[in-house]
Amino acid sequence: MKTLGIGIIGAGFMGKTHTYNYINLPLFYDELPFRVKLVGICNRTLSKAERLKEEFGYEFATSNYLDLLEREDIDIIDICTPNNRHYEQIIHTLEAKKHIYADKPICITNQEADNIVNKVEGAGVVHQTAFHNRFYPAILKLKMLLNEGFLGKPVSFRAVYYHSSNINPKKYRGWRQSMVESGGGVLFDMGSHVIDLVYHLMGEYDRMCMQSVILYPKRPDKNGKMTKVDTEDHVLINAKMKNGAFGTIEASKIIAGSNDDLDLELYGTQGAVKFKLMNPSFLWIYDAREEDSPIGGNRGYKAVETLNKDPDSKSNFPGPRFNIGWLRGHIGSQYNFLKCVYENRQAVPSLKDSVYIQKIMNKLYLVNNKEDWVSV
Ligand SMILES: NC(=O)c1ccc[n+]([C@@H]2O[C@H](COP(=O)([O-])OP(=O)(O)OC[C@H]3O[C@@H](n4cnc5c(N)ncnc54)[C@H](O)[C@@H]3O)[C@@H](O)[C@H]2O)c1
Repeated sequence: MKTLGIGIIGAGFMGKTHTYNYINLPLFYDELPFRVKLVGICNRTLSKAERLKEEFGYEFATSNYLDLLEREDIDIIDICTPNNRHYEQIIHTLEAKKHIYADKPICITNQEADNIVNKVEGAGVVHQTAFHNRFYPAILKLKMLLNEGFLGKPVSFRAVYYHSSNINPKKYRGWRQSMVESGGGVLFDMGSHVIDLVYHLMGEYDRMCMQSVILYPKRPDKNGKMTKVDTEDHVLINAKMKNGAFGTIEASKIIAGSNDDLDLELYGTQGAVKFKLMNPSFLWIYDAREEDSPIGGNRGYKAVETLNKDPDSKSNFPGPRFNIGWLRGHIGSQYNFLKCVYENRQAVPSLKDSVYIQKIMNKLYLVNNKEDWVSV
C-alpha cells in the first residue's frame, strides 16, 4: 500500500489540528487505499516540535523547515505557520517538488500571489488550501442543491463569521494584531473563509466595498508594554456577484456572545438555505415551490439531517446519526487533499483559488473605509 509521508511546518494550534486529522483519517474514511505517516514536525521553538514528536509519533523534530524538504520519505508539506511565513515556505516547497497543503491566507501581497501562481504552473505537485468550511456534510449537500438549481435564480446572501476573542482589552497583542506578521486583520483571518465560501457557492465576485474598525489601538504585549495594534477587528463588506446576486459579508472578533459563529444564508427566487457552524449537523432549506395551502400546506423551513453523512465514507464513523463539530470540516478537507495526491490529480480549492481570494482581500484594503466600490 502506498505511504504518504507528512512534514508539518508550525506546531501551534493548526499544527496540532492537522496532526489530529492525519492520525484519525482512517477511522473516518474506511478502506483508504493509502497510509499516512507522520515523518517530520518543524517549529521555530524546537521544544514545541519535540513535544508533538513525543506525543504523536513523528519520526523527527526540527526548527529548520528546510530539513523537511530534504527528506525523500516526505511527500507532503503542510504549512501551519503565521501568515508572513507562508510565501517563502510555499516557494521552497514547490522548488523541492513536494505536494502542499497550506493554511490560509496563503500569502500577503499581490506580488507574492503572482509568484506563487507562476511557480505552481508546471510544478507537477498537488496543492490545496485549508478552506475547510467547504467540507462539512451540510455544505457538501448545499453545493449539491445549488448545482441542481434548488434556489432558482440566486438573489441575495448574508454571511457572517463572528468571534468575541478581541473584546477583552487586556488580551495581549499576538502576531494576528501586527500588520507585519499577519499582513491583515480579521479580513485575512476569518473573512478569507467566508469570502471563499461565498465564492464556492455563488461563483465569482463583481464589485465590493468595505468598512472596518480597530476596537483598541493599543494592547499589552507579553511583557505588559502597551503596543500598537494595526489590524482591524471587524469588517463589513458589501458584494455584488457576477451571477447578479448581492449581499453582505461580515467578519469580526468583537461580537459579544459569539464563539465560532459562521452563519450563512442564501436566498433565491425559488427557495432559501441556511447553515450555522455552531450547529453544523443540519442544513435549513426552504422550498418556495411547495404548496402553502390548506393552512400553510407543508411549506416552511426544514432542518435536513446532514449529520455525519459524508458520501465518501462507508461507516461514517462513529456513525451517521451523530452530531459533528468543527474538526469534521478539517478532516474532510485533508481527506480530499490526500485522495487527490494519491490519485495524482489537482485538488480544489487549489493555491490558485486562494490567490483569487487573496487578491480580492488586497483590493478591499484599497477601498477600506472609503465610499468607493472596487471591481474584482
Ligand atoms: N483553517 C483554519 O480553520 C485556521 C484556524 C486557525 C488558524 N489558521 C491559519 O493557520 C496558520 C497558523 O495559525 P495558528 O493559529 O496555528 O498559529 P499559532 O501561533 O498557534 O502557531 C504558529 C506556529 O508556527 C511557529 N512558527 C513561526 N514561524 C515559524 C517558522 N519560520 N518556522 C517554523 N515554525 C514557525 C510558531 O512558533 C507557532 O508554534 C495561520 O496562517 C492561520 O491563519 C487556520
